[in-house]
Amino acid sequence: MSPIRPNDKPAGDSGAHRRLREATQSQHEALERRTDVIGRLLTPRGRREVVAGFHRLHAGLEDGIAVWLAGDHALDFDARRRTVLLEADLGVVGGRAQAVSDAPIANGRGEALGQLYVLEGSALGGKVIRKAVLQQGGDLAGLSFLDPYGDALAVRWRAFLAVVGREADIDPMVAGARAAFAYAESCLAQEAAVV
Ligand code: HEM
Repeated sequence: MSPIRPNDKPAGDSGAHRRLREATQSQHEALERRTDVIGRLLTPRGRREVVAGFHRLHAGLEDGIAVWLAGDHALDFDARRRTVLLEADLGVVGGRAQAVSDAPIANGRGEALGQLYVLEGSALGGKVIRKAVLQQGGDLAGLSFLDPYGDALAVRWRAFLAVVGREADIDPMVAGARAAFAYAESCLAQEAAVV
């Protein structure tokens, strides 16, 4: 499937968000191209791999992000954690958790926000992925992590971007986002899959 380009849209909010989108656009496109998430979700083995890969991604980053962002009430970080949801999804698909020792560690609030940008943005793509899976005859068993907020998705995304937009120093956020996209690719790559 040809990449869907979220970054073609106008940013509409802050310069910080625009920088994050522009700095990671090629990584997002490469991730879509190289990981074939939608195609793999259509077979039981591929689905186990993909859910395990997303579990590794979230389990690897969330605790490090929490060190810097757990106390930020505007973010409500604990409600954004998805590792527990992914553990339940792993149980549904019969997959098992992988080691997370190679995750990038956020060295400050800016890097943590950049990493969280990647995790939160994946929920936007998650809606699109679920729809594509249904259109191609698949079901949604074990894919609740792709729709963590239901109807509140847009509200949660805007609240996150508002926090990003108030951040004075953009460079650390960009560094965190780029590191998190690289880690996402290593978690979701087919050759990294353990089932
Ligand atoms: C086949 C897989 C994927 C597809 C089809 C996809 C598609 C999309 C789409 C359509 C959007 C824009 C949604 C909107 O503006 O309402 C989006 C946004 C985003 N996605 Fe993906 N995505 C995929 C995988 C991922 C993954 C695995 C990650 C990260 C782990 C990710 C990170 C992001 C981010 C950070 C954004 C926000 C971009 C912005 O700032 O506007 N995506 N994705």
